[in-house]
Amino acid sequence: MAETAGWHTAAALSEVKEGEPLGVEIAGRSVALYRVADEYYATGNICTHAEALLSDGMLDGCEIECPLHMGRFDIRTGEALTSPVEIDIPVYPVRVAGERLEVCLPQ
Ligand code: FES
Repeated sequence: MAETAGWHTAAALSEVKEGEPLGVEIAGRSVALYRVADEYYATGNICTHAEALLSDGMLDGCEIECPLHMGRFDIRTGEALTSPVEIDIPVYPVRVAGERLEVCLPQ
């Protein structure tokens, strides 16, 4: 197992605001955190089209719109939904631990 795999503290819950994506670095990975209807989600933060930061984009329900060319992804599944994006983004499990949000990175 890679040293970075497993659960990591991503942010304080208070930093992850409803409808406002938050970009963080976790063990060298760029991750976007989201809070929608009091549920938390985490995805890769780099758009698979031309590497814009999704945390700079607009969150519309459970869809994140890339700020560069307006491609959309489902933050629950990572699915690329609209042109020009074609490649899905990774999604990561999240859990609440006290006042912190934790993200599980894969191997
Ligand atoms: S960089 Fe995201 S849609 Fe082009």
